[in-house]
Amino acid sequence: MKHVLAIAVLCVALCTLTPLNSFGAGGPKPEPLPKAKTIAELAERYDSSRCIDCHEEAHDEWSESLHSKSILGSPRTAPTIITAIEKGLKRFEYSGVKDDSDITVEHLMMCMKCHLPQLDEATDDVAREIVATIRGWQQAYKDGDEDKAEELEETIASLNIGCMVCHNKMALIHKYADGYPQPDTVYGSQEGDHEDEELPLMAEAPALGEAIFCGQCHGHGPNFELDHPSQCATAYGSYLFSYVAHGGSETCQECHMEKSGLGHNMQAYNSEEMIEMAFDVKVEGRSLFWRKNKAEGVLPIGVIDVELYNKTGHAIPDG
Ligand code: HEC
Ligand code: HEC
Ligand code: HEC
Ligand code: HEC
Ligand code: HEC
Repeated sequence: MKHVLAIAVLCVALCTLTPLNSFGAGGPKPEPLPKAKTIAELAERYDSSRCIDCHEEAHDEWSESLHSKSILGSPRTAPTIITAIEKGLKRFEYSGVKDDSDITVEHLMMCMKCHLPQLDEATDDVAREIVATIRGWQQAYKDGDEDKAEELEETIASLNIGCMVCHNKMALIHKYADGYPQPDTVYGSQEGDHEDEELPLMAEAPALGEAIFCGQCHGHGPNFELDHPSQCATAYGSYLFSYVAHGGSETCQECHMEKSGLGHNMQAYNSEEMIEMAFDVKVEGRSLFWRKNKAEGVLPIGVIDVELYNKTGHAIPDG
């Protein structure tokens, strides 16, 4: 009995203490950088092309994914942001938005919280510049001005969920314990020196390989922390409360990055690889009986059973 107790005490002690030694290598909350004043400045701060030389594969893969154009989207996202402004913000009595010039970063956060979290490092002018750029792009399309449309589309896509959004800004989740991401560090699975001059250090992000990392943006319901909660993606909620609750054990990364072989090109129904992993389909057909009828000939009655089994880690489609 004494032994059992001793082991139990040891276990409790280890369980509470071990994490203290294996916490991620963040640090104290850094002084915020001066706010970016233009789209160009914000894009430059999170420019993923800086990483190409040494991480070509990750970059090539990423550039095929929707993360690389997360406010342009498929390109369905940018127009929907305008719809949210016209049919939402401008119609809500207490939003403070009557005109585009009233739009602030806080207003756009109902989308950008997930589509462009680094917008919190920019001034309200950048929020308005984004809206004006999307409108200009839509207008250029209407006018048939392809060059201009293409140019503005590139500007919109220059704001995205790039390498440093995942490997720095969003990399550490439990900041009281793991610390805050430091401006000179890339977060992954290793510690030590990093060859990049501007980012001379590598440190460990304990949750980067866990579903909770993706859950930060892939949603679990209304975003209650906002003055006006929005709801878009809910895959993470469905993952937790349905898939995991029923014994599912794979992470988002295992399915979307490893098993799919797609790595940083995280995809869904737009890719063969993912569709192949999505369903088990069982179809059984049989004829029940034939009835002969002189006027109409043979009338077959068929019974077709279709069983669709969702093998993904969440409900589909999402949203
Ligand atoms: C001059 C070359 C160079 C540049 C530029 C560079 N890296 Fe690296 N990076 C490396 C090397 C080398 C490693 C170590 C690779 C290894 O050991 O697997 C590394 C490691 C990493 C890791 C950790 C990987 C792990 O397994 O934990 C991350 C994350 C990372 N780099 C991100 C970036 C990002 C983001 C950028 C652009 C902002 C970037 N790197 C720019 C050379 C570079
Ligand atoms: C909780 C995070 C979150 C918020 C807040 C959010 N979104 Fe999304 N949104 C996502 C994610 C993740 C996806 C992609 C995957 C999916 O289908 O779940 C997505 C997908 C979309 C798509 C389809 C993408 C495409 O390329 O076709 C549109 C359009 C969209 N969002 C618009 C918006 C707008 C507009 C707002 C604000 C009113 C908003 N979202 C708020 C996370 C969010
Ligand atoms: C949407 C988030 C996200 C973005 C954007 C992203 N990464 Fe990663 N990256 C991850 C995750 C998650 C892992 C770890 C995968 C695991 O542990 O299963 C990872 C792993 C890595 C690694 C370690 C080796 C490997 O390939 O597994 C390197 C290096 C890396 N990323 C570089 C980059 C670079 C460079 C970019 C930009 C071109 C980038 N990442 C963009 C999420 C991201
Ligand atoms: C910083 C927020 C953020 C993080 C972190 C993030 N995502 Fe996303 N992801 C998005 C947004 C926003 C979109 C949709 C962009 C659009 O089309 O407008 C998206 C799109 C996707 C899509 C494509 C969905 C489609 O409809 O085709 C997949 C798959 C995906 N993410 C998987 C992941 C996985 C797996 C992780 C974790 C390794 C992850 N994401 C981490 C925000 C994020
Ligand atoms: C067991 C494997 C598996 C796991 C675990 C998994 N996914 Fe998926 N996911 C898939 C497959 C396969 C698809 C493609 C089916 C489709 O899009 O219709 C998919 C589709 C998606 C989509 C697009 C949904 C849509 O509208 O069709 C998003 C977004 C996504 N996954 C994100 C995530 C995130 C975030 C996690 C972790 C919280 C995750 N997935 C966990 C296999 C998985």
